[in-house]
Amino acid sequence: MAQHLAEPNATTILSDDASWWRQAVVYQIYPRSFADGNGDGIGDLKGILSRVDYLADLGVDAVWLSPFYPSALADGGYDVADYRDVDPRIGTLAEFDELVEALHARGIRVIVDIVPNHTSNLHEWFRRAVAAGRGSAERERYIFRDGSGANGELPPTDWLSVFGGSAWERVDDGQWYLHNFAVEQPDLNWSNPEVRADFVKTLRFWADRGVDGFRIDVAHMLTKDLTEPLPSRAELELIPRDGKHPLIDRDDVHEVYAEWRAVFNSYDPPRTAVAEAWVDSARVPLYARPESLGQSFNFDLLLADFDAAQFRDIVTSNLDLAALSGSSSTWVLSNHDVVRHATRYGLPKTRRDESGKTLEKAGNDWLLGGGAESQLDRERGERRASAATLFLLGLPGSAYLYQGEELGLHEVADIADEQRQDPTFLRSEGSEIGRDGCRVPLPWSAHGASFGFGADGAHLPQPGWFAEYAVEREELDPASTLSLYRRALALRHALQGGEQLGWIETGRDDVLRFTRPGGWQVVTNFGSEDYPIEDGANVVLSSSGATDVVRGESTVWIAP
Ligand code: NOJ
Ligand code: CA
Repeated sequence: MAQHLAEPNATTILSDDASWWRQAVVYQIYPRSFADGNGDGIGDLKGILSRVDYLADLGVDAVWLSPFYPSALADGGYDVADYRDVDPRIGTLAEFDELVEALHARGIRVIVDIVPNHTSNLHEWFRRAVAAGRGSAERERYIFRDGSGANGELPPTDWLSVFGGSAWERVDDGQWYLHNFAVEQPDLNWSNPEVRADFVKTLRFWADRGVDGFRIDVAHMLTKDLTEPLPSRAELELIPRDGKHPLIDRDDVHEVYAEWRAVFNSYDPPRTAVAEAWVDSARVPLYARPESLGQSFNFDLLLADFDAAQFRDIVTSNLDLAALSGSSSTWVLSNHDVVRHATRYGLPKTRRDESGKTLEKAGNDWLLGGGAESQLDRERGERRASAATLFLLGLPGSAYLYQGEELGLHEVADIADEQRQDPTFLRSEGSEIGRDGCRVPLPWSAHGASFGFGADGAHLPQPGWFAEYAVEREELDPASTLSLYRRALALRHALQGGEQLGWIETGRDDVLRFTRPGGWQVVTNFGSEDYPIEDGANVVLSSSGATDVVRGESTVWIAP
């Protein structure tokens, strides 16, 4: 295999390039499950600090830290009790500063997660709201209403929370508060200027500490129109999502982001943001505009099968969408909310609804049914996952990787009910399996109490097969998934140019081939029959190892 391209320099310092994010590889760390520095079974900042060289060797441009703030963990940290501190189980602000410095010294940017739709019920504001009683200024920071029924004993509406069950919870004096997610996650009132001011303070707090960007949780749900009478659930469903829906994707949420944008742009280089916005594609550019958050996640690949036509449509439509806002596109195959892609691709074709669209919860049915090994083709899943990853890494825009995917890790299916932590499992009384299976602590070594995650146990059970995927093993194996990711990220830096993409017709429905400025080509074979490559092509990377043909379910990169 021709390998004439430069190796990355792990000690590069940060450039002051304001557009660094446009084609960055961002590695998502779920802090409780990455590395445990003090042996209490919970991942922490010290653990991450001890692995910064690993991140540099992997070649990522940025890390995104899922919430590490004080939290009772009712929703894996997305229930934030204090936005401007570190959970004592995870570390201290001084350790956070040390981590930022260590990552920056290796040329790696830092993105933190902002959770503005809801706080934790343990947040000081919420505790004061409950104590202060009805009609108080403290309650105005949240969404409190009197109940319905003769004595207010019924919730104000029949709305459901995203995690199942009523979206309202009653407090002792009889009022109800709105929680679109878990009971422990009361929704904030974004009509209240105090709420807005406090988040500006939070953004500045982290930006002043050197944070380079922000990932905005459920960015499409903050503002609400709760004019009485409130619509019923059935009525809500009939209201178009055109910017005026009472709860979702309202146009006025961008007033919030315009204010944030002014904050971001007051730094040099400007701080960046990426929206987690589950909205109609046509409305994604609103979030990705430079006047708003600047970039938005595209989750289409999470919902797609390993299928050439689906992948091509997704790429084409998302590049068009990105062009509408002037932002770059984002690509995601795995994150902390979905079944890992090595597993999704190793299961029989995912279920589809009548519209032909793959259902969102791909792989969840299999997990719910007990996660039978007989239905999972592990090797095939990994083969396809590597092919899909190299396809994704060749695309223009930013790639968001989720910790452990670089090891080819599969979802963990065998977690006993009593060990599950995810509120989606707990609240749905077992009808949803939850997201614990992709949040199991990483295996760093093949032996030891928690496969090198820490000196002792792990807060979620790690299966025996984790040993095969341990970093320590894969590092020594040139054919491992880890070695492939490292080579791919190094080459990507060397080959990356402008953000254009041109399709090259292949004469086959199951083979996609595209070219990037400078002559970098990516060929993915979604089928089973080999696809020949022209003699003399400079194949610099191949997920199957073959460099004369593109084997079934594999990707090759061709350099100019
Ligand atoms: C999206 C996050 O990714 C997810 O993990 C969380 O449960 C919800 N937002 C609620 O904060
Ligand atoms: Ca720990």
